[in-house]
Amino acid sequence: MTLLRVENLAIDLVRDGHRHRLVHDASFSVERGETLAVVGESGSGKSLSALAVIGLISEGLEVAGGTIHFDGRDLSALDAEEMRGLRGSDIAMIFQEPMTSLNPVRSIGAQLTEGMRLKLGLSRREARERAVGLLTEVGISDPEARLLQYPHQISGGMRQRVMIAIALACQPKLILADEPTTALDVTIQGQILELIARLCKEHGVGLVLITHNLGIVARYSQNVCVMYGGRVVETAPAAELYVHPLHPYTRGLLASVPRLSQARGTGLVPIEGAPPDPMEVIPGCRFHPRCPMATEECSAKVPVARHAGAHMVACWNAELAEPEMA
Ligand SMILES: Nc1ncnc2c1ncn2[C@@H]1O[C@H](COP(=O)(O)OP(=O)(O)O)[C@@H](O)[C@H]1O
Ligand SMILES: [Mg+2]
Repeated sequence: MTLLRVENLAIDLVRDGHRHRLVHDASFSVERGETLAVVGESGSGKSLSALAVIGLISEGLEVAGGTIHFDGRDLSALDAEEMRGLRGSDIAMIFQEPMTSLNPVRSIGAQLTEGMRLKLGLSRREARERAVGLLTEVGISDPEARLLQYPHQISGGMRQRVMIAIALACQPKLILADEPTTALDVTIQGQILELIARLCKEHGVGLVLITHNLGIVARYSQNVCVMYGGRVVETAPAAELYVHPLHPYTRGLLASVPRLSQARGTGLVPIEGAPPDPMEVIPGCRFHPRCPMATEECSAKVPVARHAGAHMVACWNAELAEPEMA
């Protein structure tokens, strides 16, 4: 059974009685123990979609449509209390900036063990032992000493490792990691992404990995979901997407990021133009003003997502992309 299935999710900004759609008709799913990478430029709706899953979208925003099923349950049927119960136990989150998620005045040990004692019912000693084990797993040396330290006493990379340990602490079924390495030095970003993906796999945890790092994503995710302007434009198995991207936006993204197989800095072609302002009304496909393949149809009608082999793609001209890619 699929662990997480989001179907036709719509999120609206409601202000002064006006409604403006920020996320349109988004569908994606995560299998047990597998990784779904969610990629797309800033403002494409990645974070909102993830936050909607755990009922954490901010005030003024509203889930206006769609369904979210997690572990056989319809999450829209849960009340606020039940949602809170789910967060930090069955579903954990790792955010971009660990300093804002960690409490600066509590020791790492206290923050790591509190959930385990509360949600897993472990004794102080059991929780401490599990904490030491988890810190070791995330690559932190001298874990006993670290438990006594405070977040500001360790580096950004170490803090993000602690966040990963906290996320795993209560044996979640799903982890949502929202650009977990953006605040870190580029040299360790890859290491941390690899660590998250590897540990989730080893622990059988489903992972939604929101990231810009398409190169890394290829190696660690089973499926990729590409978002643009509040819509999912393409989803496909990672191995397939990298070889045969169908949506012109996916192709643009791939051409604009360094690939593992590519010498550094060669052949990178940025996508022209900028992502749309979410408040802007764009008729038809939201990508058409930037799309090299756009036809009249693209500016008139919103493309319907449809199956194309192992892909789901929302583009009127996706077939045209195929022969060139072969
Ligand atoms: N609380 C909010 N109020 C108004 N607009 C918002 C709010 N949160 C997000 N948005 C808008 O919704 C769009 C999608 O946001 P987000 O999901 O954070 O994008 P991403 O994570 O892909 O960068 C953005 O253009 C953003 O400006
Ligand atoms: Mg975001």
